[in-house]
Amino acid sequence: MDETRCFLVLAVFLRSVSGVFAAKQPNIVFVLADDFGWFDVGYHKSEIRTPNLDSLSAGGVRLENYYVQPICTPSRNQLLTGRYQIHTGMQHQIIWPCQPYCVPLDEKLLPQLMKEAGYATHMVGKWHLGMYKKDCLPTRRGFDTYFGYLMGSEDYNTHVRCSNIPPLDLNRCALDLRDGEEVATGYEGVYSTELFSKKAINVIEKHNPNKPLFLYLAFQAVHAPLQVPDHYMAPYDFIHDLNRRKYAGMVSAMDEAVGNITRALKQEGLWENTILVFSADNGGQTLSGGSNWPLRGRKMSLWEGGIRGVGFVASPLLERPGTVSKELIHISDWLPTLVGAAGWKTNSTKPLDGFNMWNTISKGFASPRLELLHNIDPLYVDTAPCPGTKSRFTLDQEYNKNPWTWKSGFNVSIHAAIRHSEWKLLTGYPGCDVWFPRPENNSFYRDSSSDEPLKPVMLFNIEDDPEERNEVSALYPSVVESLLDRLTHYQKSAVPINYPDPDPKCDPGPDGAWGPWA
Ligand SMILES: *[C@@H]1O[C@H](CO)[C@@H](O)[C@H](O)[C@H]1NC(C)=O
Ligand SMILES: *[C@@H]1O[C@H](CO)[C@@H](O)[C@H](O)[C@H]1NC(C)=O
Ligand SMILES: *[C@@H]1O[C@H](CO)[C@@H](O)[C@H](O)[C@H]1NC(C)=O
Ligand SMILES: *[C@@H]1O[C@H](CO)[C@@H](O)[C@H](O)[C@H]1NC(C)=O
Repeated sequence: MDETRCFLVLAVFLRSVSGVFAAKQPNIVFVLADDFGWFDVGYHKSEIRTPNLDSLSAGGVRLENYYVQPICTPSRNQLLTGRYQIHTGMQHQIIWPCQPYCVPLDEKLLPQLMKEAGYATHMVGKWHLGMYKKDCLPTRRGFDTYFGYLMGSEDYNTHVRCSNIPPLDLNRCALDLRDGEEVATGYEGVYSTELFSKKAINVIEKHNPNKPLFLYLAFQAVHAPLQVPDHYMAPYDFIHDLNRRKYAGMVSAMDEAVGNITRALKQEGLWENTILVFSADNGGQTLSGGSNWPLRGRKMSLWEGGIRGVGFVASPLLERPGTVSKELIHISDWLPTLVGAAGWKTNSTKPLDGFNMWNTISKGFASPRLELLHNIDPLYVDTAPCPGTKSRFTLDQEYNKNPWTWKSGFNVSIHAAIRHSEWKLLTGYPGCDVWFPRPENNSFYRDSSSDEPLKPVMLFNIEDDPEERNEVSALYPSVVESLLDRLTHYQKSAVPINYPDPDPKCDPGPDGAWGPWA
């Protein structure tokens, strides 16, 4: 082979392994919204207006078969590790303020890989992956800079987080805002959506364009508490429910922030080589203005309303812009997808559960993912009020009557769910099972068709029945058995749950700020 041909072959090979990225590593901006429900984005026909999200996604690829985890810490954990939470010991719950643990320090996180790939790495917003000791902080886990909340549920304006410290029988309210590793003061009265978008824009404006940029922006919006400057709420006079109206205003502020950030990327000349991902972290919380209509359930549950996420990719680098993807994609897929887009390797991580989805998203190829473990959590308890919990007791009775009807050894009173192509199997109590009506209606209205009791094992064909109305386990016993076997297989690979008791040493005192104490 002569030199030119050899070069050509090599160039074609490089193009084929790394797609369009052989030339220049793309900037990557990942925007995560908190508690943003399926029915809360304009393009899902919501009454809430999101012109920026609508137009960005219309010119990009909307992910309409995209999954996240049902709560905050687990979604972020899977985003940054590319691994299921059963593999990090974090399959149960969020990290509460005084719990002394974090994402295991031997996990290699997405920003670490991006840094190895030569990126400038920045994070703005909500961390919530543990902070009891300094080694757990974002700046020690791959981010060059960080500005934001270490936990969740702060006040949007004071940035104070109140929390019970059970061992001390004390309710402590303290600041939760950091710039790098230092407490950030002087931001009282600045609404967090505006604050975080300004900080993100600062990062973009200060960025040296000779390096690729990785920016992870995790909004506090639109998680409770429901707080919003009046002018964002004003266009929603027609919404009677005050929670929903405030929430709508919060969504509008976030939408505006995304518009501002996109504008900054364009002004700085970065946009042409940028991949922007937008994702919810879990389903909407119906108790705090969110809606997942017409999906069943809500945040905290393994019903579609808890885990089917709003998500899209916007980028001039997409090969089929303006399309809708119905391919199965999960939040754990971003790590291999984005590291791949950066032209870097994932061979230094622990075994990944995520798949590289770039060709699926950009070119419309079939998803390499056939199966998705939603979770297995033997300690699950949902204490939030759910209308009509009678069905739950029926489930316990069913289980006690005949726990081992199935050949598989899987303990079907465990809260678990798995998806395999069109099939979804749920075991145990999946969480609040109500079909909440469209937000214009009374939010505690229970759909009449939901009187059928829950069963310890339930099977749905999600492609035909995304609302999970027709339970078909009796019709497909072999599908049930094989999915129970898959759950048994996953459960064998699970590491023990790490969910330590709260440590009273977390108390920041009357004048302190939440932060590392160990
Ligand atoms: C978006 O930018 C405009 C103009 O600079 C500013 O007034 C507004 O507060 C910004 N919005 C957010 C949510 O940051
Ligand atoms: C990853 O792969 C590259 C070559 O493809 C190799 O040089 C490197 O040592 C590998 N790293 C690990 C941790 O296996
Ligand atoms: C099955 O799982 C439930 C819930 O985690 C647990 O309480 C029960 O002890 C388990 N049963 C067996 C036989 O392991
Ligand atoms: C509101 O609920 C009523 C039943 O109570 C139903 O007939 C109507 O279609 C619902 N409206 C919307 C917008 O879902």
